Amino acid sequence: MPNRDEKILVVGACGQIGVELTLQLRKIHGDGNIIASDLREEHPLLKGTGPYVSLDIMNKETFHVLVLRYNITQVYLLAAILSATGEKNPTLAWHINMQSLLNVLDVAKEEGLKKIYWPSSIAVFGPSSPKENTPQHTTIEPTTVYGISKFAGERWCEYYNTRYGLDVRSLRYPGLISYKSQPGGGTTDYAIEIFHDAKNKGKYTSFLNADTYLPMMYMPDAIRATIELMEADASKISVRSSYNLGGMSFSPKDIADEIRKHIPSFEIDYTVDSRQAIADSWPRSIDDSKAKEDWGWKPEYDLERMTKDMLENLK
Ligand code: NAD
Ligand code: SER
Repeated sequence: MPNRDEKILVVGACGQIGVELTLQLRKIHGDGNIIASDLREEHPLLKGTGPYVSLDIMNKETFHVLVLRYNITQVYLLAAILSATGEKNPTLAWHINMQSLLNVLDVAKEEGLKKIYWPSSIAVFGPSSPKENTPQHTTIEPTTVYGISKFAGERWCEYYNTRYGLDVRSLRYPGLISYKSQPGGGTTDYAIEIFHDAKNKGKYTSFLNADTYLPMMYMPDAIRATIELMEADASKISVRSSYNLGGMSFSPKDIADEIRKHIPSFEIDYTVDSRQAIADSWPRSIDDSKAKEDWGWKPEYDLERMTKDMLENLK
């Protein structure tokens, strides 16, 4: 039975995560209770599934009016500039990533909203963090503007929780892999492109080198983690900055080997670009024991299962 007590605004609903998260939230809470919003035109997969409004989250007044007009009780803020795009215009990335969050936190505090969701990223970690099984609490010195903005955002989330009692929840997503909507300019996008090129061209040129290991996750696990975190009893949430979240860890060579089990003629070569330096600054794998301990997190997809599903679903 859908839970009809909440009115949820999803900001950035037409992005890689937003489309799938909006559809899942509509199943749980009822179509009319999930207001999708974005700068862009409504995504084709969202059309006809529930309310859609055009919103620039940088405009605080418009956002505030929307919250009041729709009696919003929760906000999922997904609008952001991702790592690779952020390095092209660092001041813009900082401005958008920070101001969007502050607008949401401020209005949420003022209007007494019940819950806020805002994702952080493995990008908070930098070269001085442990590379393997990177712990929840460790040295955090990000070297990309995206990572800096995510780390600052985590501090703001914890601050609003401690100082004003706002129920803000957050996950440090690994690189996310999906087939329903396009990725938005991240360093981990290679792991999506590779599937498209394997199906369409039979070969792929990777912009990361063969043995670049990164933490990754298949979208169904990421959506489930988000909903499980948001539905957990507040008493179970001991991390109010952002939880480490693990799924799997692989390199371009590993994923190519796995694709070859389905498409034996698939070929990969490597022409690295500036995204290699970003990837080299991030963890190779993540320790998510705190998420497991606090609210029972358990990933379902490994590389083998994800590859099979991606290739079956990509047209
Ligand atoms: P995306 O770029 O695919 O989607 C972001 C959406 O926000 C886009 O549809 C864009 O049009 C919209 N947007 C941008 N500026 C806006 C504004 N001013 N007002 C309203 N909407 C605006 O990104 P995504 O991959 O879906 O990521 C969502 C969140 O998850 C981001 O905070 C991102 O940092 C985080 N995250 C993503 C990944 C990943 O691998 N996709 C990993 C870690 C963290
Ligand atoms: N997938 C994201 C990126 O590469 C990580 O936050 O930017």
